[in-house]
Amino acid sequence: MKKIIITIDGYSSCGKSTLAKQLASRLNYLYIDSGAMYRAITLYFIQQHMDWNDPAQVRDALGNIRLEFIHNQISGQSDMYLNDENVEQMIREMLVAEKVSEVAAVREVREFAVAQQQKMGAGRGIVMDGRDIGTVVFPHAELKIFMTADPAIRVERRFKELYQKNKNITLHEVKENLELRDYIDANREVSPLRKADDAIVLDNSQLTMQEQLELVMQWVEDAIMAHSS
Ligand code: CDP
Ligand code: CDP
Repeated sequence: MKKIIITIDGYSSCGKSTLAKQLASRLNYLYIDSGAMYRAITLYFIQQHMDWNDPAQVRDALGNIRLEFIHNQISGQSDMYLNDENVEQMIREMLVAEKVSEVAAVREVREFAVAQQQKMGAGRGIVMDGRDIGTVVFPHAELKIFMTADPAIRVERRFKELYQKNKNITLHEVKENLELRDYIDANREVSPLRKADDAIVLDNSQLTMQEQLELVMQWVEDAIMAHSS
């Protein structure tokens, strides 16, 4: 069967990576979490006490960053490695979440990440989620999905996830972070978050994970058929 590129974009915590992982596993495709790359770059910048508003500093720092996704035998998922260190846990922490949208708005950072993402997708058979995947990274992808969910539901979902690891986190803190990131992501100058004209909208506020998978699998089959001739 023909292998395609599936892009999933949308606001924070609406279930993009959950759906992307489900699809990759069902289709035996590669899943790439583009947000993890921006998070790892942000972690590096924080560790180096950098000023990411200074393009010269950013260019130098990017020259020292090597990002890799490496399969984790225990979880069955890919972990993000930054210069040979597994940073999968660290990049999910609030410290990084608070700064990532600022860093991801920097032109040089985006060029660096997008070039690597495009290389990863060269062979097709991938599912990539993020903010600009259908608009900038793979404008010719065969299937583009734009996910949304009710903001209160998104906050609740992300809170539950973070609370399992950190009992000090508050719902208010999570809500503020999601709102701020969504605002910066949708209003930045370079590749703002927006729906690609040919993307299908998926609102999963009232869908279980199983229901969303079954619905989207139908879209995948249609896209494969449409591009097989
Ligand atoms: O999972 P969550 O929705 O919280 O965010 P993420 O996908 O891990 O992405 C973290 C941040 O990286 C986003 O808030 C964006 O600022 C940035 N990002 C981006 O600008 N472009 C992408 N393709 C992916 C993420
Ligand atoms: O990648 P993104 O930030 O868009 O969201 P996610 O990390 O895939 O999903 C955020 C949370 O919502 C996870 O804890 C998922 O288990 C949960 N979720 C859900 O409860 N119902 C869905 N239909 C999809 C995701």
